Amino acid sequence: MEDQISKLSLRPFHLSDIDDFMVWASDDLVTRFCSWDAYTSKEGGLAHLRDRTLPHPWHKTICLSDRPIGSICLTQGSGEALCRGEIGYALAFKYWGQGLATHAVNMVLSSVFKDKPELERIEALVDADNVGSQRVLEKVGFKKEGLLRKYLIHRGKTVDVFMYSFLSTDLIK
Ligand SMILES: CC(C)(COP(=O)(O)OP(=O)(O)OC[C@H]1O[C@@H](n2cnc3c(N)ncnc32)[C@H](O)[C@@H]1OP(=O)(O)O)[C@@H](O)C(=O)NCCC(=O)NCCS
Repeated sequence: MEDQISKLSLRPFHLSDIDDFMVWASDDLVTRFCSWDAYTSKEGGLAHLRDRTLPHPWHKTICLSDRPIGSICLTQGSGEALCRGEIGYALAFKYWGQGLATHAVNMVLSSVFKDKPELERIEALVDADNVGSQRVLEKVGFKKEGLLRKYLIHRGKTVDVFMYSFLSTDLIK
């Protein structure tokens, strides 16, 4: 497992990553808690990569030995919300349970506050049923701030969501 972790890296996406992207973007299990449905065609996945992922200011692919196996994204606020960013991530199912998402989030935390000095808080909004993702955040040191009741409409159903946060000052504690 340690060996896999040493092969992990983050880099920007390219359109040529489409086949690797489709491995998780077409999987209902991976996209179950995402705001978008699994893609059933390569054209749909390609449009997502081109129109949503590539223009995003901070959306990287999690690579294992330089090959994309997942994605990690940080969406920073603007105006009075400039101090905070929301993190999201997903991994291809085959790689779950090996500590890889935990390591990828740790990689982001170790550099992002230096790269973006205006950022003081990273938050994550996690479906109350998404226990694996909550565990990732807790292992990394995020604080569970509370339950946002009936916060989102997901696949036609209103769901409860946990709010987690990690502050720049949490790094040195
Ligand atoms: C969430 C996700 C990124 C986790 O990736 P991962 O590489 O498997 O995560 P890690 O191995 O670093 O850690 C997962 C932890 O959750 C635990 N876990 C996973 N599913 C669980 C469940 N149903 N119940 C309890 N614990 C669970 C694992 O045992 C592990 O904890 P441990 O190290 O204490 O044993 C991955 O499952 C995924 O891509 N899910 C779909 C997309 C998604 O939900 N993204 C998050 C949106 S907020």
